[in-house]
Amino acid sequence: MNKLKVIDHWEDVSIEYQVYMQSIRQVNDAYQIEHGKRPAFIIKTYGCQMNEHDSEKLTALLMQMGYRATADIAEADVIIYNTCCVRENAELKVFGNLGALKPLKAKRPDMIIAVCGCMMQQSHVVEEIKTKYRHVDLVFGTHNLHTFPSLLHRAMAQPDILVEIWEGEKSIVEGMPVARKKSLKAFVNIMYGCNNFCTFCIVPYTRGRERSRLPKDIIAEVEGLIADGSKEIMLLGQNVNSYGLDFSENYSFAQLLRDIDAIAGDCRIRFMTPHPKDLSPALIDCLRDLPSLCEYIHLPVQAGSNQLLKAMNRRYTLESYLEKVARLKAEVPDIAISTDIIIGFPGETDEDIDALIDLIREVQYDSAFTFIYSMRQGTPAARMTNQIDESVKHERFDRMLNALNTMIIENNKAQVGKCYQVLVEGQTRDGKRLMGRTRNNKIVNFDGDASLIGQFVDVKVESAHNFSLYGSQLLNKQVDDNE
Ligand code: SAH
Ligand code: SF4
Ligand code: F3S
Repeated sequence: MNKLKVIDHWEDVSIEYQVYMQSIRQVNDAYQIEHGKRPAFIIKTYGCQMNEHDSEKLTALLMQMGYRATADIAEADVIIYNTCCVRENAELKVFGNLGALKPLKAKRPDMIIAVCGCMMQQSHVVEEIKTKYRHVDLVFGTHNLHTFPSLLHRAMAQPDILVEIWEGEKSIVEGMPVARKKSLKAFVNIMYGCNNFCTFCIVPYTRGRERSRLPKDIIAEVEGLIADGSKEIMLLGQNVNSYGLDFSENYSFAQLLRDIDAIAGDCRIRFMTPHPKDLSPALIDCLRDLPSLCEYIHLPVQAGSNQLLKAMNRRYTLESYLEKVARLKAEVPDIAISTDIIIGFPGETDEDIDALIDLIREVQYDSAFTFIYSMRQGTPAARMTNQIDESVKHERFDRMLNALNTMIIENNKAQVGKCYQVLVEGQTRDGKRLMGRTRNNKIVNFDGDASLIGQFVDVKVESAHNFSLYGSQLLNKQVDDNE
């Protein structure tokens, strides 16, 4: 498989980084002998699964450098904020938390405070940190995460803030160590970046252009996870339908799914996010035909009218979106569809909200992530002059949410009596029941022994309380009977 972009291997690029890792490791080993415990680190992660996954890589590097994880920020020797800037709220949280670290740093000047992730790919944010958050020691971005050991080493040696941001992507670095938070359900990146430039969105500026990992690297990772006991794998990309477009040979996302299905066994496969404009009949066929692929799709619509979709540069129409939804429903029985919705985009009218509510009712979404539009510096929408008043945004948001919630509650009630295969993920927060997810991504709570965690069981839905489904385990039915 030829690839137009370069792939680097961590083993090759890391020779230099290994030296820094060993050097820090020696210091930390000596620390342990002296103090009876290792120095501690904590990583706070904001944003999406891309960032979660990056934090898993940083965690693995820190562990290899001889640090131990802690949940207590006050005892941490290295604190990392892996940041998100998709909406202003995410940024404000980071700035708030960074500010609160000042007294801690004054008390323990040897601690290292690092900030990384999407926010750091914006020069105005880096400037703000350099001027207003002078207690920060290290700033790096999304494109040079793999150089973290040398950055940490240098930050420890210099009193001033160390800032190293790469403007754009250089290559894909394969083979980095990963310390996964959850082994039962795992994330696998299949591609990085985004070429779509929806006018509201900052992601193409923070994550660079689309680049796909080679199928053999993805498959090797999936095989490794399955061998380690993963029962559900989520394939990740900002627009998974574009997977493989940067290869010189034809190899599509649908083909990748078929190749993964061939090795999946009883492991469930999901993916996120397919852009509606590129949802192909071949992908719908995969959802219908591949046993491992769950009957679930996240299909972000963002808005309910063509004028908004055009202004957002989404490059599909309401009609083409609905046509794809109809096809999905016809081809894949019991498919669940979720979506993302933005309220308050520039130029939005009350009629656009009416149209959106009609759309929500027509599609009958199983769930939705709903956002109030947040102006992102540097995006085309931020320069639009027809911005919406905050109070109007909130009033429209509530109106939309009411309609959405009513529909979701009705849908949940319609689940009563249905039987599902559930992957038991853990206990409910109060510890009284087990919690599992159906193939179409519904959460079902039921009574059962904790020994079932990590297993597939059959559950019958007995009742629906607003957003939660409650069921009971079907004891006389084996999972295999479903297949
Ligand atoms: N690549 C994914 C989305 C990544 S961002 C996709 O295309 O679906 C996740 C969601 O955040 C988006 O779908 C959108 O609904 C929301 N979002 C992105 N930028 C936003 C902004 N400026 N204000 C409010 N919501 C935004
Ligand atoms: Fe953002 Fe659009 Fe790319 Fe999704 S497809 S990451 S919303 S620009
Ligand atoms: Fe994800 Fe936020 Fe970056 S949503 S890609 S962490 S801006």
